[in-house]
Amino acid sequence: MAPALASRTGLLKPSPTLAITAKAKALKASGRDIIALAAGEPDFNTPEAVCQAAEDAIRNGFTKYTPTVGIPELRQAVCDMALRENGLRAEPSQVVISCGAKQSLFNALMVVIEPGDEVLVPAPFWATYEDQVAVAGGTVRRIATTSDSGFLPSIEQFKEALGPKTRAIVLNSPNNPTGAVYPRSLLKEIAALAIRHDLWIIADDIYERLVYNEPHQSIAALGSEVADRAITIMGCSKSYAMTGWRIGFAIAPKRVAEAMGALQDQVTSNPTSFAQVGALAALRLDASVVEAMRCEFLERRDLVLDLLRGIEGFKTPVPGGAFYVMPNVEACLGDRFADDMALAEHLLEHAGVAIIPGSIFGGPGHIRLSYAASRDDLREGIARIARALNAP
Ligand SMILES: Cc1ncc(COP(=O)(O)O)c(C=O)c1O
Repeated sequence: MAPALASRTGLLKPSPTLAITAKAKALKASGRDIIALAAGEPDFNTPEAVCQAAEDAIRNGFTKYTPTVGIPELRQAVCDMALRENGLRAEPSQVVISCGAKQSLFNALMVVIEPGDEVLVPAPFWATYEDQVAVAGGTVRRIATTSDSGFLPSIEQFKEALGPKTRAIVLNSPNNPTGAVYPRSLLKEIAALAIRHDLWIIADDIYERLVYNEPHQSIAALGSEVADRAITIMGCSKSYAMTGWRIGFAIAPKRVAEAMGALQDQVTSNPTSFAQVGALAALRLDASVVEAMRCEFLERRDLVLDLLRGIEGFKTPVPGGAFYVMPNVEACLGDRFADDMALAEHLLEHAGVAIIPGSIFGGPGHIRLSYAASRDDLREGIARIARALNAP
């Protein structure tokens, strides 16, 4: 007999999204013709200026430890970007650079959640929240939203979900998996509620540059009272096509940023030195580079919405941001497919299309399609879905 693993390992589930993506890749490698509409990453290459800056950094010997919380120039550049793009005012001492937004989020939860605390999270949500909250000793209380309301929660739902153990609210706008963008009026109501009930707000704004209707609103930019309890998370992965570089940012009240830095000190130390130099170049890119990617995503979104309208039984709210659509597919479930998991399995095995079942995000009866794929793949993938559902 070998010693037992720590009980906290029981809290961890492997990321189902990564598992489906891996299965699709394995099928493709075995020779199957698979169209992947499951990816959570831009299909563009990292901009050339970013690659060049990181390459130069390596050649110039910038390959040693940096301060744990990031190089000063990058922390300053994050402040400049947050002010310019989101009206969010912060000092470099409030910024922590981490190994991806995922680590930023984990740092945040670990420093504000006590064992036994509850965290309110609108569902569907990015599945990692539930696992990270669990590792921090808390539990997620889901606030269910539906496609009929464009996946937006109401303030009444937050009020109903509040309890004596509520410690924090996690918001994600633009949202993965729904693409929903929270209007300013709703963010104001949530901010007022958090202030009244003395709650932390963790605002996962990782998709902030990918908005299609109105400028992004950071909840922390609504005023100093809300900024004092808000941890805003952003990063390079989605905005600059840099998922593999692993650079995320958190902007938090100073004492929170210090606690997050102290935690990171003992876990990873600094994020990769030359990746930070790449991130600095990304934040200094000409606005037209990011705008070109945003416009391409917008055109693909409209193409996908158009194609999905042709599938009977799909109800798809128009997403205001990110690069996902989340049709309600309940009308297609029943005898043939017991649930969205069975439907997704069928589409992968028999139609050769990888999508993610909504259940994984706490959104049963839905599927998530990513339009971070070429237009040809989007056309072919959605045509295959239509054929598979129409076939007897
Ligand atoms: C909502 C959300 N937050 C955070 C992340 C993590 O981003 P990163 O790759 O920077 O860790 C993702 C990535 O899929 C995401 O979808």
